[in-house]
Amino acid sequence: MLDHLTIVKHPLVQHKLSIMRDKNTSTASFRQLLREISLLLAYEVTRELDMTTKTIETPIQPMEAPTLDGKKLALISILRAGNGLMDGILELIPSARVGFVGLYRDEETLQPVQYYFKVPESLDDRLVIAVDPMLATGNSSVAAIDLLKAAGATNIRFLCLLAAPEGVKRMEEAHPDVPIVTAAVDERLNEHGYIVPGLGDAGDRMFGTK
Ligand code: URA
Repeated sequence: MLDHLTIVKHPLVQHKLSIMRDKNTSTASFRQLLREISLLLAYEVTRELDMTTKTIETPIQPMEAPTLDGKKLALISILRAGNGLMDGILELIPSARVGFVGLYRDEETLQPVQYYFKVPESLDDRLVIAVDPMLATGNSSVAAIDLLKAAGATNIRFLCLLAAPEGVKRMEEAHPDVPIVTAAVDERLNEHGYIVPGLGDAGDRMFGTK
């Protein structure tokens, strides 16, 4: 079982993250680094997957070779910034099934409201990896995981690039069964809900919007 919180301190992850945080890093570099870092984070979040063996023949002799067991993984992107993490992970796990959860924040109630939900079938039989680069207040992550559980998911992991302590706490309270893998937990949220020091708006930085 993964710990509830895993901070990936690998030097390559930390180096790439520092370049991404720099406000002078271009959109193209940001996107490329996100792709690279997502591969390294995917390596961590897929630790301890169930394994089996299958008989194969190497050019030398037959062997019982280790392979992944069970149904293919489900990768769920929490829109829109989740898509930036998704592309790299799919390079590593090309056979994963993919789903999307779209949420917006109601300006009056400040609560997340679902506008899109499309996920692979048989979620109950799959390891589900939900991805969103920024775990800030945790409101949308908690809501997305509520929806995945309502759709049958029982084995969920959450992958993000950066987290705020407030978001980690909120997730721990709402979904103690969902391990979080991240590259860093920053100091705090500011009054606008941005992670400090953070990297700004991840969606804007990866898509070049303002
Ligand atoms: N979402 C972002 O993109 N950045 C933050 O700092 C917080 C939430």
